[in-house]
Amino acid sequence: MRAESRPIPYRCPHIQASVVDLNAERIAAWNDPDLSKLPFYEPGLAALVDRARGRSLHFSTEVDAAIAAADMVSLSVNTPTKTKGVGAGQASDLRWIEASARQVAACAQGHTIVVEKSTLPVRTAEVVQTILSAAQAADGKTFAVLSNPEFLAEGTAIADLEAPDRVLIGGVDPVAIEALVAIYGQWVPAERILRTNLWSSELSKLTANAFLAQRISSINSIAALCEATGADVQEVARAIGTDSRLGSKFLKAGPVFGGSCFQKDILNLVYLCGHYGLHEVAAYWQQVVVLNTWQQHLIARLVVNRLFGTVTGKRIAVLGFAFKADTNDTRETPAIRICRDLLEEGAQLAIFDPKVGVEQIAADLGVEALVGSEGEVVWQPAADPCAAVCGADAVLLLTEWQQFRQLDWPTLAAEMRQPAWLFDARAVADAAAARAAGLRVWVVGEGEGR
Ligand code: UGA
Repeated sequence: MRAESRPIPYRCPHIQASVVDLNAERIAAWNDPDLSKLPFYEPGLAALVDRARGRSLHFSTEVDAAIAAADMVSLSVNTPTKTKGVGAGQASDLRWIEASARQVAACAQGHTIVVEKSTLPVRTAEVVQTILSAAQAADGKTFAVLSNPEFLAEGTAIADLEAPDRVLIGGVDPVAIEALVAIYGQWVPAERILRTNLWSSELSKLTANAFLAQRISSINSIAALCEATGADVQEVARAIGTDSRLGSKFLKAGPVFGGSCFQKDILNLVYLCGHYGLHEVAAYWQQVVVLNTWQQHLIARLVVNRLFGTVTGKRIAVLGFAFKADTNDTRETPAIRICRDLLEEGAQLAIFDPKVGVEQIAADLGVEALVGSEGEVVWQPAADPCAAVCGADAVLLLTEWQQFRQLDWPTLAAEMRQPAWLFDARAVADAAAARAAGLRVWVVGEGEGR
């Protein structure tokens, strides 16, 4: 059953939770009576907010007051990759974590449990603890620091939250640990709540993301080999996934991994390994990013090659812009690199995504005008797949939205300029139907000669 249609159980009505942010516009969006205005799209989220908002869940810009009133404060701020200074391009920028810790140190009253929720480099809790200790000594306040990394994935976040594979709590203070265990214990089975030391907890989050990303790079590398040899990556994935030691998840070849986490976390891991002098280990993980970057340019190159070596002036329909289905998040989405490469080659793009708005696409592509300097259409948003493919030489499928599995290929093919291509970078379209409708079809990881 999809998350929207399931009634959301009310897990902790006895706990008052305040989400505070300095960004007034964002908080206003969280408080908007129109639930379609929530700051981002996530299946099931609107129903959950609707049910708890104003009762046990509150959104506010009153950061200091919320900290003062809290028994437990969760630090859930951004930790992007540093763009300058020491560790630029690899290390996490911890300025917001430090600022939050200082604000908690200044505003907390009595005893406060501080929970690291953001993804952080191992030993960040030391920094947080040092900042809090200064306040502890000066004002007689007391603090306990826990690490409780978040493992939910976008698009399935509510389902992941309700039935997590595990909850990880790292810390030294048993009373603080059990206070957090008691919250999760309202709905998570006891055996799924793992207690570790602080550093294991911090490092486990980075490691989990690194292993997941590595798995995608692994299957994508095999997809390239499948295309070269006549094997089919879907068949290979099924064959290896039945090995219970490997498992079947995270074996879908695609147009590289995107999202705000994987690349950032691996780079952070690489930086940490280098910092501790483990240069071979750093190089090993760096290769996962290298492969992902290499693959980013492959699809645009392939499209150009198949369209007789040039896409100048040709219309290409792009279906899907989000980094995965069921989200409107475009951070590090493969669509950005692919579209930019095609625009660079002179293509005209018609882009459709069911949830990503035109302003977001414009910001990501960095191409402000929809019309180029000589009056030509550079790219344009399309209202639906049919509008996108109208007059196009090719359709490029980049996100695995459910609706793309059911596209009506005879109707779409009739709108395209022949000979026309379908490039399916997610292997979700009905390739047989597209071929029957007269399209030439490329599917990721599918070798020729089937
Ligand atoms: C990821 C992790 O899966 C979460 O456990 C973690 O909590 C989260 O990062 C985080 O650190 O916040 P997320 O980035 O939301 O979650 O999404 P994923 O489902 O992991 O997908 C990441 C990228 O890999 C997407 O571009 C997706 O299309 C791609 N992918 C995923 C594949 O190409 N093939 C697969 O088989 C799976």
